[in-house]
Amino acid sequence: MAKMIVTGGGGFIGSHLVRALLEKGDEVHVVDTFVAGKLPERLDARAQYYEIDITNTDALSALMEGADTVFHLAAIPRVPYSVAHPVESTHANITGTVSVLTAASRAKVRRVVSSSSGSVYGD
Ligand SMILES: NC(=O)c1ccc[n+]([C@@H]2O[C@H](COP(=O)([O-])OP(=O)(O)OC[C@H]3O[C@@H](n4cnc5c(N)ncnc54)[C@H](O)[C@@H]3O)[C@@H](O)[C@H]2O)c1
Repeated sequence: MAKMIVTGGGGFIGSHLVRALLEKGDEVHVVDTFVAGKLPERLDARAQYYEIDITNTDALSALMEGADTVFHLAAIPRVPYSVAHPVESTHANITGTVSVLTAASRAKVRRVVSSSSGSVYGD
């Protein structure tokens, strides 16, 4: 049983990943502020949930101790929203990603998987 961290595990894609890892028998720890809402169908009682902002590097690195892999899906993903709210989006998406990578490095986690963006395929 490997210890897995899923940031944004309460979101659309993250919640499916959490379920898949649990089905595989992994120990799953979810980091999510639930800014996008807390939908019951996206929560799984077999996982452990932490309402921690991903910019909280100290809390993240403590949680990541002994983890096999960090899957990074926490984000404010919508482009029109980022245009209307650039500071909030930059904080979560850019500073947040740097924080996740820093925390993983501190905790000596060997693998971080980033979810990228569907926009890499163009229009
Ligand atoms: N949905 C798609 O089709 C798609 C395709 C490719 C890549 N992606 C990428 O995958 C990631 C997740 O997308 P999604 O559609 O599941 O989004 P989502 O909004 O459903 O989930 C994102 C989760 O991150 C959480 N979150 C936001 N800011 C946070 C913070 N500061 N700290 C902790 N948690 C925070 C939200 O509460 C939410 O639960 C994004 O980076 C997105 O760009 C999405």
